[in-house]
Amino acid sequence: MAGAIINGIVATGTFPAQQIYVFDINPEKCEALKQKAGIQAADSIRQLIEKCNIVFLAVKPQNFAEVLTAVKPAVNEKILFVSIAAGISTQYIVRSLDCGCPVIRTMPNTPLLIGKGATALSRTANVADEDFQLVLSLFSACGTVTVLDESQMNAVISVNSSSPAYIYLFAKAMLDSAVKQGIAADTALQLICQTLEGSAEMLRQPELTPDDLIKMVSSPGGTTLKALDVFYEHHFEQTVDEAMRACTKRAEELGK
Ligand SMILES: NC(=O)c1ccc[n+]([C@@H]2O[C@H](COP(=O)([O-])OP(=O)(O)OC[C@H]3O[C@@H](n4cnc5c(N)ncnc54)[C@H](OP(=O)(O)O)[C@@H]3O)[C@@H](O)[C@H]2O)c1
Repeated sequence: MAGAIINGIVATGTFPAQQIYVFDINPEKCEALKQKAGIQAADSIRQLIEKCNIVFLAVKPQNFAEVLTAVKPAVNEKILFVSIAAGISTQYIVRSLDCGCPVIRTMPNTPLLIGKGATALSRTANVADEDFQLVLSLFSACGTVTVLDESQMNAVISVNSSSPAYIYLFAKAMLDSAVKQGIAADTALQLICQTLEGSAEMLRQPELTPDDLIKMVSSPGGTTLKALDVFYEHHFEQTVDEAMRACTKRAEELGK
């Protein structure tokens, strides 16, 4: 995710690559990011904090405590932190650093890698408007941005951030069935991708609800209704609700 964000930042031209520093505990990953994006590598978290006034925290939630412990000795209130971690609250970051630093909490997704991300963001009250606009513009370079209240930042993971995996699972199941029914995999994949894109575009029409769109495909006595019957029999909607709630619950656990 850090690599995708760095590529996005470099693409905006907001900061010259020479002003962007990266630190990863794994020197090979650090070097690879440095080479790929033409940015600088810091030797330590401390050096990175001393060189930068906007710091992206892009490690797994499980590594947050150790990273914040390493950040703390060099921190000052002028540094803006941008976290992309699932479940980690801004209060946790502020408390761990024992510093009233401004913090922006973001929840991006992997389509960011191809400039089609959907990122949700919230901020602490002390983030300056111009700094928030700057960070919004960095994420906008790799997709859409949506500002939320922090109270929604755990639940939104199930909506935009983990959800690409549910879509891929659905696509994989469709692909497997298509192949079992004699359609070549590459042909089926093209048809499925175009159908996903077209359906997403239809969902964006403000005058049509998902129910309207389902009705448009469902001729009485036709094929679609037969397929939908199977989904309803297997409680498809409840399954999705249960899965999304499990996702949110895990985010809450990671934040403890
Ligand atoms: N993947 C997604 O779809 C997605 C979406 C939204 C948000 N996020 C969030 O993005 C964050 C990063 O996820 P990711 O998938 O990019 O994880 P990742 O590929 O594991 O990247 C994290 C990197 O941080 C390194 N690291 C671990 N401990 C460190 C330390 N103490 N100091 C410096 N670097 C350290 C890791 O090295 P090692 O591999 O050697 O441990 C790894 O290279 C997570 O908090 C996740 O919740 C991910």
